[in-house]
Amino acid sequence: MGRLLEGPNAVDSVHTLLTRGKEALARRDYNTAMDLFALADVLTTAQDDTPRRLLNRTLRQVVPRWHFSMMNDAARNAAYSAAIAAVVRPGDLVLDIGTGAGLSALLSARAGAGLVVSCEAEPIVAAVAQQIVAENGYEEQVRIIANASTSLRVGVDLPAPADVLVTEIFDCALLGEGVLPTLAHARRELLAPGAALIPHAARLWGQLVDSEELYSRNQVSTVCGFDLTAFEQLRSLEYFSTYLNTYRHRRLSEPFALADFDFRAEQPAEPYQVSVPIVADGTCHAIVLWFELYLAPGITLSNGPEQAGTHWRQGVQTFPSPRRCASGDKLDLTASHDLERVLVTIDAMSGA
Ligand SMILES: C[S@@+](CC[C@H](N)C(=O)[O-])C[C@H]1O[C@@H](n2cnc3c(N)ncnc32)[C@H](O)[C@@H]1O
Repeated sequence: MGRLLEGPNAVDSVHTLLTRGKEALARRDYNTAMDLFALADVLTTAQDDTPRRLLNRTLRQVVPRWHFSMMNDAARNAAYSAAIAAVVRPGDLVLDIGTGAGLSALLSARAGAGLVVSCEAEPIVAAVAQQIVAENGYEEQVRIIANASTSLRVGVDLPAPADVLVTEIFDCALLGEGVLPTLAHARRELLAPGAALIPHAARLWGQLVDSEELYSRNQVSTVCGFDLTAFEQLRSLEYFSTYLNTYRHRRLSEPFALADFDFRAEQPAEPYQVSVPIVADGTCHAIVLWFELYLAPGITLSNGPEQAGTHWRQGVQTFPSPRRCASGDKLDLTASHDLERVLVTIDAMSGA
């Protein structure tokens, strides 16, 4: 970046810009902070990296770090690549929801799409994706729109309703990045009748585990002789993400299907009930959650505990009152969601 000023005036201006930038960062006004740090960088000597470091610190608040592990998740990339190649027909209009670095948009273009309209809600990410698309020579075929999918309009952003929708907006327990409302809007407003969806469906899996270690990730009692139990008011009611296999645990059930989602149609957000056979004696501390995406016929993708290296990890929800159970018992569970997050409750236990 070019330097505009030198001498005492520049030093004063830079100091003021950095101070105001830090204030903006502290009140989480990231756009203002980035503007101020970028301007300070222009005015600073090339040797002083303070504005650049502060700019990057702010950027990290806006662009989550998981983008990198996601882009390097080979199993995810291979499954999406194969599904896109299988589904996209030459000349198709593809809507890619959630551009990120542009990988799924580029895969769609390489599969022969006539046009890929790819939208990204985070403008900074969209700008970098635009650069990546150009550097890979797909500018003609891929149109990046820096906006949420729910703001797109056919006739404005898309030349026609799309033939294919590609999206990868899933958290470790499937729904946490808003895929259900996003797809409801896309089906209503942006897709041609009978459009193909990648993925077209998903299953949420669960498994009950005995694990004091996992339970302690979300619980506290007496520490150094002090009763800290009141801090449990701040515990997580819903799942958090972690790798199950990094904790000592015993499986109390086989993996079981908790809920099925058909992304091609509207589905009521009704609770799912399931009765789970217990296969080992122990204390049920938590349920582990993961998904299986149905990307195309014969092509699935999962973030289950057996999928070493999945960047998603698994979702773990600890139960507020762990239950003793014995092999042969059945635990009745209800899984409900508010379109965004799944919550599992234990309803009853029946003995063998
Ligand atoms: C998990 S990344 C996937 C990126 C890329 N499609 C890939 O597969 O490598 C999802 C991206 O979608 C964006 N996003 C999520 N929901 C969106 C929506 N409804 N409209 C536009 N962008 C969205 C997020 O900001 C994030 O950058």
